[in-house]
Amino acid sequence: MEIKTFKDHESLSAAVAAEILATLKNKPGAVICLASGETPRRTCQLLVELARRDKTDISQFTFIGLDEWVGIPPENAGSCHYFFQHELLDPLKIPNQQVHLFDGMSEDLREECTKMDAVIGEKGGIDLIVVGIGMNGHIGFNEPGVSFDNYSHVIDLDETTITVGQKYFTTPVSLQKGITLGLKHLLNAKKAILIANGTKKAGVIRDTVEQKVNNNFPATVMQQHASGFVMIDEGAASLLNQSK
Ligand code: GLP
Repeated sequence: MEIKTFKDHESLSAAVAAEILATLKNKPGAVICLASGETPRRTCQLLVELARRDKTDISQFTFIGLDEWVGIPPENAGSCHYFFQHELLDPLKIPNQQVHLFDGMSEDLREECTKMDAVIGEKGGIDLIVVGIGMNGHIGFNEPGVSFDNYSHVIDLDETTITVGQKYFTTPVSLQKGITLGLKHLLNAKKAILIANGTKKAGVIRDTVEQKVNNNFPATVMQQHASGFVMIDEGAASLLNQSK
């Protein structure tokens, strides 16, 4: 695992967008998995801008959505589905058949997980996964205590996730479960990037890189990835030993 620090959220986002574009230029049919949330929003916007400026056709990739809130419909602006569609997939004109998002409204969530795992398997695995980090050290909805051996699964959300998650919604919603790719998917991905910005993430970034690998702090899984990168801005890096 390697740590890369950038001056601010903008330069971090530009570097991640450039990395995604480079992956797609190298392998137009790549399988890319992204998280939703405040951290990757600017990365998505810059990727769209870059692709337009570059006049590169990057519409051939397979997109995998990292996670979804169970019980939240895609038309709700707080859903992960809405984020992916509006920030990335519509602007890049990615055909629906190349897009694989969990349906958090499905009556058979187990089947959603089976379908997702099958798609990733058929496509030969994930080439690049870009994830964020929650205030409890989660990745996707891999909450504290999760097994690193899980593929896609449904999980009870941690109290922190339920509380912090309200920030995505304009009116209070009941958040109880999440459906998510597992950490085994992350470990199997050819390249994994965890991104974080701002001083509010400084504590969880310190724990990600300085705690011993343990499943009570799921993001420590990044230490086990041979091609794993923690890409952060100076705020998120501010509690790291080496930056003191
Ligand atoms: C959310 C999502 C994660 C996301 C993380 C951080 O709950 N489940 O996929 O990466 O928390 O989100 P943000 O970037 O908004 O801080």
